[in-house]
Amino acid sequence: MNVVLFGPPGAGKGTQAKELSRYYDIPHISTGDILRANVKEGTELGKEAENYMNRGELVPDEVLIGIIKNRLAEPDCKKGYLLDGYPRTIPQADALDGILDEIGMPLDVVLNIDVPDEELVGRLSGRYMCKCGESYHIKFNPPKAEGVCDSCGGQLYQRDDDKEEVIRQRLESYKAKTQPLIDYYNEKDLVVNINGEKDIKDVFDDIRGVLDKYV
Ligand code: AP5
Ligand code: ZN
Repeated sequence: MNVVLFGPPGAGKGTQAKELSRYYDIPHISTGDILRANVKEGTELGKEAENYMNRGELVPDEVLIGIIKNRLAEPDCKKGYLLDGYPRTIPQADALDGILDEIGMPLDVVLNIDVPDEELVGRLSGRYMCKCGESYHIKFNPPKAEGVCDSCGGQLYQRDDDKEEVIRQRLESYKAKTQPLIDYYNEKDLVVNINGEKDIKDVFDDIRGVLDKYV
């Protein structure tokens, strides 16, 4: 199945994508994770991206289009893909159409995870990450032991861009540049809305209810 997970920062895209990737055995492609890995390794790409990310702004389209083209060419994507955090602009969506045409794997569905703004800030400011990829929430999804990852025992940390002023800018960037994509994909009749305000498990079940028909 070929899926875009869409929604504002903090909607739960990454949380759901990790579970869905395990459940359906298809790769989870998060452009945020790819960029953060580059920042950590200190690559040229990472150095360029870091400035934008720490301000809550979008990294330039040509950088992202290159990343996604390479990633979708990898053999594990033959099974399908779960895109998380891409596309985020109209040019990125246009480029994606061209890439998917070339590889013959058109989108099945765009899941639009809907959560009101006031909830998003609370979710992001309470988020804790682990280097193994797991993420937690101090209230909504706490680890068993404070500050320690359930899966690997690693120490949890907060993302650099989960500070309140950066969160606000990320929400602005989303509204200005990314939200218009809902109309773009509505015109192609690909959007299914998901109520992202429910519990993590209930959101997962609702998404499964949509995706099971594409297996
Ligand atoms: P990216 O990493 O994609 O960040 P984002 O879109 O801001 O999304 P998040 O990861 O913050 O939110 P999420 O929806 O995955 O929420 P999560 O599941 O963690 O991008 C970061 C930056 O990289 C961008 O700002 C930009 O600079 C750059 N970038 C990336 N892609 C780009 C692109 N295509 N073009 C240009 N630039 C790009 O959940 C959040 C919290 O809520 C967690 O603590 C979780 O436990 C909790 N939670 C989840 N679901 C629920 C629920 N149902 N109830 C209660 N709590 C919940
Ligand atoms: Zn861990």
